[in-house]
Amino acid sequence: MTDTQKTAQLSLNGETYELPIFSPTAGPDVLDIRKLYGQAGVFTYDPGFTSTASCDSTITYIDGGKGELLHRGYPIDQLASKSHHLEVCYLLLYGELPTAAQLEDFETRVTRHTMVHEQMHNFFRGFRRDAHPMATLVGVVGAMSAFYHDSTDINDPWQREVAAIRLIAKLPTIAAMAYKYSIGQPFVYPRNDLDYAANFLHMCFSVPAEEYHVDPILARAMDRIFILHADHEQNASTSTVRLASSSGANPFACIAAGIACLWGPAHGGANQACLEMLKEIGTVDRIPEFIARAKDKNDPFRLMGFGHRVYKNTDPRAKVLKQSADEVLELLGVENNPLLQVAKELEQTALNDEYFIEKKLFPNVDFYSGIILEAMGFPTSMFTPIFALSRTVGWISQWKEMIADPQNKIGRPRQLYLGETMRDYVDIENR
Ligand code: CMC
Repeated sequence: MTDTQKTAQLSLNGETYELPIFSPTAGPDVLDIRKLYGQAGVFTYDPGFTSTASCDSTITYIDGGKGELLHRGYPIDQLASKSHHLEVCYLLLYGELPTAAQLEDFETRVTRHTMVHEQMHNFFRGFRRDAHPMATLVGVVGAMSAFYHDSTDINDPWQREVAAIRLIAKLPTIAAMAYKYSIGQPFVYPRNDLDYAANFLHMCFSVPAEEYHVDPILARAMDRIFILHADHEQNASTSTVRLASSSGANPFACIAAGIACLWGPAHGGANQACLEMLKEIGTVDRIPEFIARAKDKNDPFRLMGFGHRVYKNTDPRAKVLKQSADEVLELLGVENNPLLQVAKELEQTALNDEYFIEKKLFPNVDFYSGIILEAMGFPTSMFTPIFALSRTVGWISQWKEMIADPQNKIGRPRQLYLGETMRDYVDIENR
């Protein structure tokens, strides 16, 4: 954060207040209003945080106008094509790409933490089999503080580090267990000879009765999905993690809060909702009907997988995923998949429609991810848990950054109160 000596003036009730301006390394200038209430006695009003920077951060940068996403300065398309998820995890957590020795050490640390406490198997059995895997995930990750209480002291940097590694290592195991439990199959233990993505596929799709071979092309596609969802600056779930953490809550509780927030259909739940929408549309001839519904103000229906608060241009993650969808479907011999045909036609129709052009609504990351995941054999209910396990590194990196910041304070927004002013209590017989 560079103090440029620039200031803005606010005139209010005959007084002028100087507001310092911070110039970021990239992106718009930021007005510092922290002292405004103390000096001028007014709040600012910004529900939905459309014009508010809630923190400073060095992790991820998005230029929504250009459709650019950088992690620690590196463009997402380069990371998706040249890197792999654990290397991106290292980059997000520690700020730089690792050397070969650092990467090997990090991968060893993560790999050694992939198993969950055996008692956790019993904990899973308390859930109904038909529970949504996101419900199971929220509960089990929240319960991690009961299983791993030796890494809940946020004031101890060593415990913070262990908690970070545990979360990154165990989320795939827990997500796979939630899936196996929901289909009545035995839990599959992680295999440390497989890489992060291949191990996840193994835990989801292998069964004790027969040999399961992880296709390296599918493992690569899975890994790319993990990379593309790894972090996205101060989105709703990340802000939830930061707010939960600002009270001093333990890391497992904070990540469980992030998972709960991610579940909503406007956020991570959109991947499930998008695929269900594509199935409901079914055939390309029904696309105009759904486009008309999305444009109708009296119809709550929205085109899922379209639009973004920050991107007013193509979501760079969607570009990579579109190509990945073609590759995976061709590999699996299902390139004529009707859902992909509907998706491609819907995308073209929306991109050429005046409503979507004017409102700058482009396909987002959730538009193509579901098609790939379904082709791999995942049910729609697993799409958001896969988003959650991918985003865990982003949440934990932002959490670590926040805890290490000496300016860290409890998050406590104020409000524009529009309720009744003080009035006297009325006895029940007089109401
Ligand atoms: N279909 C039809 N109209 C839309 C859509 C859509 N998908 N998205 C936005 N609009 C319209 C909206 O009705 C509004 O119109 P008007 O100005 O006439 O009232 C205008 O565009 C602006 O929308 P907004 O809701 O004020 O924008 P927002 O920044 O608050 O919401 C969003 C962003 C992502 C929640 C929204 O675009 C949306 O609901 N999209 C569908 C759900 C989705 O795909 N979510 C995944 C987001 S990316 C991954 C993630 O974050 O997890």
